[in-house]
Amino acid sequence: MVRRTLVLLAALAIGFATAQGELEIFSWWAGDEGPALEALIDLYEQEHPDVEVINATVTGGSGVNARAVLKTRMLGGDPPDSFQVHAGEELIGTWVAADRMEDITELFEEEGFMDAFPAALIDLISTDEGIWSVPVNIHRSNVLWFVPGNLEEWGVSTPGSWSEFTGETCPALQEQGVTPLVVGENWTMQHLWESVALAELGVDAYRNLWTADLAFTDPSVIAAWETFGDVLECTNDDASGLSWQQATDRVIAGEAAFNVMGDWAAGYMVTTLELTPGEGFSWAASPGTDGVFMLLSDSFGLPVGAPNDDNAREWLRLVGSKEGQDTFNPLKGSISPRLDSDLSLYNAYLRSAAEDWANDVQVGSLVHGAVAKEAFMSEFATVMEIYLNSGSAEAASNAAQAVANQVGLGN
Ligand code: GAL
Repeated sequence: MVRRTLVLLAALAIGFATAQGELEIFSWWAGDEGPALEALIDLYEQEHPDVEVINATVTGGSGVNARAVLKTRMLGGDPPDSFQVHAGEELIGTWVAADRMEDITELFEEEGFMDAFPAALIDLISTDEGIWSVPVNIHRSNVLWFVPGNLEEWGVSTPGSWSEFTGETCPALQEQGVTPLVVGENWTMQHLWESVALAELGVDAYRNLWTADLAFTDPSVIAAWETFGDVLECTNDDASGLSWQQATDRVIAGEAAFNVMGDWAAGYMVTTLELTPGEGFSWAASPGTDGVFMLLSDSFGLPVGAPNDDNAREWLRLVGSKEGQDTFNPLKGSISPRLDSDLSLYNAYLRSAAEDWANDVQVGSLVHGAVAKEAFMSEFATVMEIYLNSGSAEAASNAAQAVANQVGLGN
């Protein structure tokens, strides 16, 4: 009798707790970018077995394709229940500014997220009116990747500056028939550009670009484009056809010495290629940026009009939880911003990233949404095309300034 009552009570409790219906999550984490998200979705499905999760992905590194599809859906009144969005201006200057997001301050309070996340990160996802997304990770943009055994064989070491790279490292590698630095499609060039710009301008001037306190037409920025051009002389000539994973593959195959990419590359090398950090691959801050952590954070928000609002809120609770983050991030190649994250679950690369994140000066990534609104980010691809077609630092700087003026960068 007692047993039957207990069973009945348990069934009732489950009945009350059980969410139903669907949950559509929208992101660009498809294919070999997918395992971390899939692990998080598995956790959700364990907690909510009656919810059908639709993992809607639009493939393409850095969200180049997904963001365009998202825009069409949002503007067409067909939002997903929750979507991947970078913390910072991609969220605030785009979707929050357009009144398309729900304020989730209450959820932050209920889940203890106000204390679990660093205040500076909460700032990145907040305005005076509310809190607008839940960060799932911290990625680092300015990382130089290489295979230690290969560098040894070629007799080179990691360059400490771009002038050392172009002046010494690059010719030494070219003489041996090795591509000094591999780059891929347009956005990966922009990714390289932000690291070069950070190194050449320094932290304060780099930050000033995004607040419109430094013009793109300033001679220092033109000089940074010129350095970028020198660096491109040391890269492969089939860049436009390569994804970021294919660029990483060239480093691993020993065809190229270095690659500058975010630390999702570590996720790919560990989770997909099954390499050991420090042996199969190693890392350094991109030249000239030691002590600076260029960050970005993937987050999930709740769009206005989400068809399954309750299920989406349950998703956001999981995304921000310690268990959710410590499941997702070791696979993703990112660290958890939660102050109580269990570092023993993370590999050697990620532990070193966590230490740098805690100790370095932090700046935000352009390409990955931290510092500029979507309108500027997407037009920067055109600026890059102008540079690649003309080879003119002035033309690129003028174009960047024109876009900044047009979109009101920094406002
Ligand atoms: C970034 C994103 C990362 C990773 C990368 C490559 O924008 O924040 O999580 O997916 O693109 O696609």
